Parts: sequence; C-alpha cells; structure tokens
Amino acid sequence: MVTSPSPYRREGWGGGPLIMQYKYCGHSGVQLPVLSLGLWHNFGSVDDFSTATQMVVKAFDAGICHFDLANNYGPVPGSAETNFGRILKNNLASHRDEMFISSKAGHQMWEGVYGDGSSRKNIIASCDQSLRRMGLEYVDIFYSHRYDGVTPIEETMQALIDLVRQGKALYVGISKYPPHLQQQCYDILREAHVPCLLSQYRCSMFDPKAQHENFQIAADNGSGIICFSPLAQGLLTGKYDNGIPADSRAAKSTGFLQQSQVTPERVEAARQLGVIAKQRGQSLAQMALAWILKDERVTSCIIGTSSVTQLDNNLATLNNLTFSDDEVTAIKNIIDNPELWF
Ligand SMILES: NC(=O)c1ccc[n+]([C@@H]2O[C@H](COP(=O)([O-])OP(=O)(O)OC[C@H]3O[C@@H](n4cnc5c(N)ncnc54)[C@H](OP(=O)(O)O)[C@@H]3O)[C@@H](O)[C@H]2O)c1
Repeated sequence: MVTSPSPYRREGWGGGPLIMQYKYCGHSGVQLPVLSLGLWHNFGSVDDFSTATQMVVKAFDAGICHFDLANNYGPVPGSAETNFGRILKNNLASHRDEMFISSKAGHQMWEGVYGDGSSRKNIIASCDQSLRRMGLEYVDIFYSHRYDGVTPIEETMQALIDLVRQGKALYVGISKYPPHLQQQCYDILREAHVPCLLSQYRCSMFDPKAQHENFQIAADNGSGIICFSPLAQGLLTGKYDNGIPADSRAAKSTGFLQQSQVTPERVEAARQLGVIAKQRGQSLAQMALAWILKDERVTSCIIGTSSVTQLDNNLATLNNLTFSDDEVTAIKNIIDNPELWF
C-alpha cells in the first residue's frame, strides 16, 4: 500500500470536516496530534498484519502522526516494534520526518537480570534493540516506562540524557512515575538541558487518579501530558453491555483487561454514560476521549484500536470536544464513584 503525501493537510480526513488538532507539548516547540495511536495491543506477531498496516496508514493519513510503542509490546515482546518497522518501510518510508515515534524501557523484556527495570544497562540496551527492530536511526522520544522501586532516579535519568547526547532519541519522557519522584526527574533532566517533554499517565473517566496527583506537577514543570488507556481498555465503549464479546480484549488470553475488571458497576456506569453520549450525538468512546481532552493540561490521548472501524469512530471525536455545564454535572454524577476507579 502506497500512501499519498499527507492528504489530511489539504482536505481533512475522508474529505469531511475532520481536521486533526495539534497541541504543543508543555513548554516546548513540539506539537502532537490530540489523538495518538498506541501499539500495545493488536500489532504483535499474534495479530493480523494487514489490519495493523491499515490502522497505522489510516491513522497517519488522518493526521495522527504520533505512534506510541515500547520495547515489550507484542506479544511476542518486541514484535509490535518489528511490525511497525515493516509497516514504515513498506508504506511510509518517505514520511519519517512527519512522524513522532516513541519507545520505552522498564518492564520485563528479555531473560536475565538486565532485561527488566530502570537501570542504565536496561535502558541503553533496550533503546538499541528498539531502533534495530523498527529500522530507525533515532526515536523522537524515549521514556523510562516506570520507576522500578530500586534504581536511583539519577541513574535512570542520566541514561535518558545520554540517549539524547548519543543521537538515539530527540527527547525524553517518564511514564507512571509516582508524584513524590516526578519533581526529582524534572529537576535532573532540566539541569542537563534535556527537559522532560512528556509525562505519560493512565487516565480515563474510570481512572481519575493521575489527574489529581500527577498532572499539575507535570504542568508546573513545563512537561506535556499524554494519557494512556483513555477508554479504560474498552470498558468505556459500551461493548461490554451484554457480556464479554468473544473478540474483545477482555476475552483474549493475550489481553491485559481482566474479566474481573469488567464489573457490573462499570458496565452499568458505561450504559448510563452512553445515554448522555447519545444525546450529544456521539458514541461513548468519542465522549470518553473528549472528556480527557477537555483538561487543558493534556497534550494528547493515546488510543488503541483493534480495527479500522474503531479508529474511524475515535477520530470522529474531533467533531465535538466541548461539554455544556449540564453535561459535566450529569457525567460527574456517574463517575465520581470510587467503585468505578482502577
Ligand atoms: N506507559 C504505559 O505504561 C502504558 C500502559 C498502557 C498503554 N500505554 C499506551 O496507551 C495506548 C492505548 O492504551 P489502550 O489500548 O489500553 O487504550 P484504550 O483506548 O483505553 O483501549 C483500546 C481498546 O478499546 C477498544 N476500543 C477502542 N476504540 C473503540 C471503539 N471505538 N469502539 C469499541 N471498542 C473500542 C479496543 O478493544 P477490543 O480489543 O476489545 O476491540 C481497543 O483495543 C497503548 O497502545 C500504549 O501505546 C502505555
């Protein structure tokens, strides 16, 4: 499949009114689309390569120029990066400079004591492996995927700084760092003149913790904020209204959404939210994405999709990103309920 150059810039996606919106990442000169595509699920060696290709190409054509990866995405671990590299080579080779590509290291990736955690050893080796798998000379941003509870923050941050010095990453970021360590990360990175471009946190209508605990620290330090699992892995789409569909993430042995997390309370809340979404002329998925984007501090939401149809549906979020006061009140009445939160 050969892609014509950047059609979204000329006419909008599908020729319709949809035009991707871009936001600056915190205090930086880099813009990201408000919707980014994540390759955690659905792009591994167990998944259909043709569908994966169509989703990446369509996303790019729609203005989603940011693709979020990590060393261990698959399964098998690493295969999402390998597949993404193939898709780039086959379809988007001449568009590298129009894309913003991330990778991360910090979770279990290979055997032995160096294949996990946030040590310098793991981060430097991981980045080299990711570049080889994707066939890239550099990634746009490399993240520490998590604080591992042991490695000194100085060691992890210095490894990120050195990746930039070595030309292997243009920017760096942190993912899921607890609030008491965020400031230390930002300070070390700023002092080295490699400021933290993005802080990545899980956030959805069912998952407001980071909004309360982490976002303001990131914003105060000039870091952009990028949210993952904005649909609570699919719970905020209404797909679990009548049980667990066979092709859903919760049903798949390779999926990270556990069936025990599909609780009656969450299903009922999703049903009630779906009624409000319908009144707004949106799908529940679209309303859930718009809800996250209404927080001015958020740069982008990373969506995951298992089909082009889902991607199309999520892209149409851009048609309505605003909420009336009454809608906000009605939504808060449903989601301000700790029973729903992860
Ligand atoms: N930093 C980190 O530690 C971290 C952790 C997790 C994720 N992430 C990043 O965030 C990305 C997104 O995470 P996520 O995949 O959990 O996001 P999500 O958007 O909350 O969930 C995506 C899933 O929801 C379902 N879905 C999406 N759109 C739909 C629609 N319109 N209608 C019906 N179902 C729909 C699909 O599941 P089905 O399979 O059921 O169709 C899809 O795979 C990841 O790919 C990754 O890049 C980062």
